[in-house]
Amino acid sequence: MLSAIFDVARSRNKKAQITGALLITDHYFVQTLEGDEAAVRSLYETIVTDERHTDVTLVEEGDCDHRTFSRWSMAQVSASGRADIPLHSNHGEIHAAARTSLTGEQIALLNRMRNTIGADAV
Ligand SMILES: Cc1cc2nc3c(=O)[nH]c(=O)nc-3n(C[C@H](O)[C@H](O)[C@H](O)COP(=O)(O)O)c2cc1C
Repeated sequence: MLSAIFDVARSRNKKAQITGALLITDHYFVQTLEGDEAAVRSLYETIVTDERHTDVTLVEEGDCDHRTFSRWSMAQVSASGRADIPLHSNHGEIHAAARTSLTGEQIALLNRMRNTIGADAV
C-alpha cells in the first residue's frame, strides 16, 4: 500500500511541482506539502478523502519563501530500509544515516513533524 501511495504521489507531485516529505509510523502518517498554494490546497482536499487513512488533521499552514524539501517530490521518512530519510528513535529525534545529508532546516522540520505524533512514533 505504501509503495502504491508513493508511486502515485511522486508522479503526480512532479507534474504539479509539489514537493514534501511523508513520515510513516505504525499508527500515523505526517506529511509536509510544499508548492503553489492552489495546487497544495487541491491536493490536500484529495488526500483528506483518501480512504486509506482516517481523522486527517491540518497541523500547520503558511507562506514560505523557499522549499525545505525541494529535492523530493515526496521523500519517504520511515524506519523501513527503503526510506529516503531513515527514521531512528534515539532520544526522540530524527537521525539521518550518513549517506543522507540533510540541512538543519530539514532536520528541524522533520522533528516538528515527528513531535506532532509524540510518543507513538516508531
Ligand atoms: C498519507 C497519504 C499521503 C498521500 N500523499 C499524496 C501526495 O503527496 N500526492 C498525491 O498525488 N497523492 C497523495 N496521496 C494519494 C491521494 O490521496 C490520491 O489517492 C491520489 O492523489 C490519486 O488521486 P485521484 O484518485 O483523484 O487521481 C496520498 C495518500 C495518503 C493516504
